[in-house]
This record gives sequence, C-alpha cells and structure tokens, in this order.
Amino acid sequence: MKRRRNCLSFLIRHVAQLFVFSGALLLLTLAPAQAEYGDVVLNKRAEKAGMRPVIFPHWFHRIRFKCNVCHSEIGFKMRAGANDIRMAGILNGKFCGACHNNQIAWGAENCHLCHSGLPGLKSGIRGGNATDGPGKW
Ligand code: HEC
Ligand code: HEC
Ligand code: HEC
Repeated sequence: MKRRRNCLSFLIRHVAQLFVFSGALLLLTLAPAQAEYGDVVLNKRAEKAGMRPVIFPHWFHRIRFKCNVCHSEIGFKMRAGANDIRMAGILNGKFCGACHNNQIAWGAENCHLCHSGLPGLKSGIRGGNATDGPGKW
C-alpha cells in the first residue's frame, strides 16, 4: 500500500515537471515572434532637427487600444519606418497628436516624453513585448 502511494506521487511530480518544462519551452519559442510589438524608434527627422529620437512604446499602446484605431482610423502604416510623421502634423491633431492633445492623453508640449531616445538611435523595432517607458534605450 505504502509502495503504491509513493509510485503515484512520483508520477504526479513528474507529470507536473513536464508541464512546467513544456510551458517554459513554449514561452521561449513564442518570444521572438512578439518582438515586433516592442518599442518603435522614430528618427527620420528628429535628430537632424536637433531633437532626440522618438521612442514609441508600441506594446504600451497596443494593450490600451484596438489595432484599427491607429492602423486604420489614424492611418499609421503597419511597417516600421513606413510612416512620414511630422511634428507640425502632430500639433494639428494628426499622427500621435490624434490622442496626445491633453484630452485623450497628455499633450504635445511634453517634448521629452516622446523625444526620449539616446542620440544616435536608428529607426526600427527594439526589445520584446514589454517596455519600461520612455528613456530606456
Ligand atoms: C506625442 C509624441 C511627441 C511629442 C510630445 C513631441 N514630439 Fe516631436 N516628433 C514626434 C514624432 C513621432 C516625430 C517624427 C520623428 C522622426 O521620424 O524623426 C517628431 C519629430 C519632431 C521634429 C523633427 C522635424 C519635424 O518637423 O518633424 C522636431 C523638430 C520635433 N519633433 C520637435 C518637438 C518639440 C520641440 C516638442 C515639444 C514642444 C515635441 N517635438 C513633442 C513625436 C512627438
Ligand atoms: C497607438 C497607436 C497604435 C496601436 C493601437 C497599434 N499600433 Fe502598430 N504601430 C503603430 C506605429 C506608430 C508603428 C510604427 C510605424 C513606423 O515606424 O512608421 C506601428 C508598427 C506596427 C507594426 C510594424 C512592425 C514592424 O516590425 O515593422 C506592426 C506589425 C503593428 N504595428 C501591428 C499592430 C497590431 C497587430 C496592433 C493591435 C494589436 C497594433 N499594431 C496597435 C501604432 C499603433
Ligand atoms: C490612440 C491614441 C494614442 C495615439 C495615436 C498615441 N498615443 Fe501615446 N499614449 C496614449 C495614452 C492614452 C497614453 C497614456 C497616457 C497617460 O498615462 O496619461 C499614452 C502614453 C504614451 C507614452 C508614455 C508611455 C509610458 O510608459 O508612460 C509615450 C512615450 C507615448 N504615448 C508616445 C506616443 C507617440 C510617439 C505616438 C505616435 C507615434 C503616440 N504616443 C500615439 C494614447 C495614444
């Protein structure tokens, strides 16, 4: 009787270990696919014009809004570097300015919250499916 109980707990322990292990494996294989939703560095014009590169925390926004709010209604093309974003447009309520207008989110006068990248950063996707907020890169 004692022997049988041991055998059962051995089995349970190992099945549980198998689950933990395959879960970790699944996470590892999923991680690279999520990288496209990390932070987007936007530096086509910013640095040339004397401002720091812009860090757009894509993940932060994506968990708050539906994709089509930005990629259809506001019109952001779904490819890093594909958009020609101008500061004048933002101040007129386009691009980021559709929300960063002191109504939906803090306004465009907070330059450093968007222009937070380190000098020399190239446009493109950085990091994984999380962000530590402005200024990390
Ligand atoms: C909500 C985010 C956001 C805020 C706030 C913001 N910017 Fe920008 N800005 C951008 C983005 C995005 C670009 C395009 C970056 C690129 O592609 O180089 C940009 C580009 C620029 C450029 C490049 C030239 C141009 O005409 O586009 C300048 C200069 C600039 N911003 C100045 C400012 C100043 C000054 C402030 C504060 C008064 C400010 N920005 C606040 C997001 C922001
Ligand atoms: C708040 C606005 C916003 C929301 C919401 C949003 N995106 Fe984006 N997305 C952007 C911007 C801005 C870019 C960068 C474009 C650029 O670099 O010119 C981008 C880039 C992308 C890219 C390009 C990545 C690459 O590697 O080139 C993909 C894919 C994408 N978004 C998918 C999504 C999906 C899927 C959702 C919803 C789950 C979503 N986005 C929600 C604004 C948004
Ligand atoms: C669909 C609306 C929407 C658009 C478009 C949008 N944002 Fe935001 N953004 C928000 C909201 C809402 C917040 C949260 C504001 C708060 O915490 O008060 C935010 C926060 C942020 C933050 C701070 C993130 C943090 O960790 O606290 C940054 C940086 C930012 N936005 C940059 C941008 C840039 C750059 C663009 C354009 C490429 C943009 N946003 C476009 C709605 C938007």
